[in-house]
Amino acid sequence: MSTDATAKGRHPSGPRTLHTALVAGVAALGGFLFGFDTAVINGAVGAIETTFGPGSLLLGFSVASALLGCAAGAWFAGPLANRYGRIRVMLMASLLFSVSAIGSAAALDIWSLTAWRVVGGLAVGAASVIAPAYIAEIAPAGIRGRLGSLQQLAIVIGIFVALLSNYLIATGAGGATEPLWLGADAWRWMFLAELVPAVAYGVLASRIPESPRYLVLKERLTEARAVLDRFVGGDTEERLDEIRETLRSVRTPRLADLLGPRLGLLPIVWAGIGLSLFQQLVGINVIFYYSTVLWQSVGFSESDSFLITMITSITNIAVTFIAIATVDKVGRKPLLLSGSVGMFAALTVMALLFGNAPIVDDEPQLGPVAGPAALIAANVFVVCFGASWGPVVWILLGEMFSNRIRAAAIAVAAAAQWLANFAVSTTFPVLSDVGLGLAYGIYATCAGLSIVFVAKAISETKGKELEEMPESSTTEAAR
Ligand code: GLC
Repeated sequence: MSTDATAKGRHPSGPRTLHTALVAGVAALGGFLFGFDTAVINGAVGAIETTFGPGSLLLGFSVASALLGCAAGAWFAGPLANRYGRIRVMLMASLLFSVSAIGSAAALDIWSLTAWRVVGGLAVGAASVIAPAYIAEIAPAGIRGRLGSLQQLAIVIGIFVALLSNYLIATGAGGATEPLWLGADAWRWMFLAELVPAVAYGVLASRIPESPRYLVLKERLTEARAVLDRFVGGDTEERLDEIRETLRSVRTPRLADLLGPRLGLLPIVWAGIGLSLFQQLVGINVIFYYSTVLWQSVGFSESDSFLITMITSITNIAVTFIAIATVDKVGRKPLLLSGSVGMFAALTVMALLFGNAPIVDDEPQLGPVAGPAALIAANVFVVCFGASWGPVVWILLGEMFSNRIRAAAIAVAAAAQWLANFAVSTTFPVLSDVGLGLAYGIYATCAGLSIVFVAKAISETKGKELEEMPESSTTEAAR
């Protein structure tokens, strides 16, 4: 069946591809908000502390609660997407993003700010689930990986814009001189600025078609036929039959459908959770959330540290194009495996350099040779991550599950990812107090383990139709 399927509808014509890419781009806009929202807070904390003076513990709690909001948003988005549709979840996320932007900007104290940040977190979590699922469901198999990478591209552009904004805020609120722009409450404007992409997301999402898989689930076959015809191409009737077949046993899909005979969950769901966990446990967000502080602590000046952070972030955007260019040709598994090997090497070098640096005033100081070497290693790490695990995990989460369980399974896997993100970002300050060598040693170990995990538990999905995705096994398609 797969050889047959490979021939069908894989190479849609130019205008159709462009149209599909635009529609996928709208869904990916949620990724921009995801990247911006998660990165902006970490740079704004100094300014927020100056305004509200909550103390670092309360501030840490406030920042972390947003990530827990993301986990909750991801968890609920799946069942809601099955019940009300993919587009309605995007609209709901857009509303939550907008409300949170206004609320955070107008917050009167740290508690109300925290509450609004959690609301924003719900939106981030929902957007993180709905974009990969929708893109996978609307894309022809032959370009599904490329279109799925748009989500990561949007995330990393969002992170870049947030870091740049943070710099402008920091220059004002953190410096001895007057704020660079917009006054001491500049951080409020940064939150408010999110309103623009948030509203754009909602307006544009209301203009794109529902996912054909959801339409078939709801027996809206005429609409499903029209969408398949317009975006996917190939033999529409045959595709429709295949989708119906995979959905035949479904009444109302629920989280309970993810349960298997052993180990609580179906093995494929565990595989998705594993991908999510490893993507975070290699410590990527430590680079983006703490990088300026990190480089300062090992001897770089504040402005150099900022520059390094920006270069790293631009590198991350650039290498996403490597994934876009290769993921549908070489496949998902080879990208993940080579990314893991590279990350393992780079993180090990960082662990050794940080671990062996002489301690001055309680901080490791890298010196003229180890400093640049650590910088190169950190950027090699980001290159390896950004060309592989960053985009490929989101692509795989969108496509690796069968039609029957997709929405629920991706919700569970993405919620696990947000919890892991929370765990890594809250433990890093403590770990780095013990020793940066230890922190990076742990991330390196996780990168090493991820090689074994991918080799054993992940199946190649390149070029396969969503209707061919296995439901109960992680290995049957792994060839
Ligand atoms: C992936 C991760 C996200 C991270 C980003 C950085 O999208 O899911 O947590 O911030 O990559 O490139």
